[in-house]
Amino acid sequence: MRRPRGRLCGLLAFAAAGTLAGCVVERPADERSDGLPPEAPARFDFGRPASDERVALWDVDVKPNGEGLPPGAGSVEEGRQVYDTYCAACHGPSGTEGPNERLVSSGSWDQWPADRAVGLYWPYATTLFDYTRKAMPQNAPGSLSDEQVYAVVGYVLSLNGLVAPEAVMDSAALASVRMPARDRFVPDDRTGGPRIR
Ligand code: HEC
Repeated sequence: MRRPRGRLCGLLAFAAAGTLAGCVVERPADERSDGLPPEAPARFDFGRPASDERVALWDVDVKPNGEGLPPGAGSVEEGRQVYDTYCAACHGPSGTEGPNERLVSSGSWDQWPADRAVGLYWPYATTLFDYTRKAMPQNAPGSLSDEQVYAVVGYVLSLNGLVAPEAVMDSAALASVRMPARDRFVPDDRTGGPRIR
């Protein structure tokens, strides 16, 4: 067992407040700089170095205002095909049947917050793109092209009645979609402590 030296030292200093000038913590001779027990191997030999290609897949951020969205475009119509091929198995043929999360909202705030599907939950279409590109399809995240993501996000938005069936989505079009839940979120500017708003 590792001794909680820091805390013990703190307690001593507190008990003898005013009489202890300082508190010297000594490392035991066998302590490793990585904090692992002495018998642990230097390397565990699993994992692999992150290639530039894999880092690039994750190192993307799209801001609510659309900053960071890639070039390209995709139509709602193309998105229907992407959806049927890569999404319907988990989210259902019309985005409501599952077995996984519903993507199409009831459209009624009476059902909220139980109904947290795209139409009543996501505050920005831009970050829906970001999430879909990074995380979906869940069994092969990052496998869709940017055009396919534009298309399928457009299709999911159209299923929620938020863009027209003939719409073509690109960075400007996504940034201009006003999501119904936009004003249901507030910036979390708490500076500490459990304050509930
Ligand atoms: C293998 C199953 C699977 C496939 C295929 C899949 N998803 Fe998902 N999806 C999930 C699961 C599971 C979640 C919930 C993930 C979580 O909460 O962490 C999810 C969540 C989502 C969400 C967030 C829902 C919300 O509002 O909370 C969106 C949007 C989404 N998927 C879109 C897609 C799209 C678009 C595709 C096709 C390109 C797709 N998914 C393919 C399993 C899947």
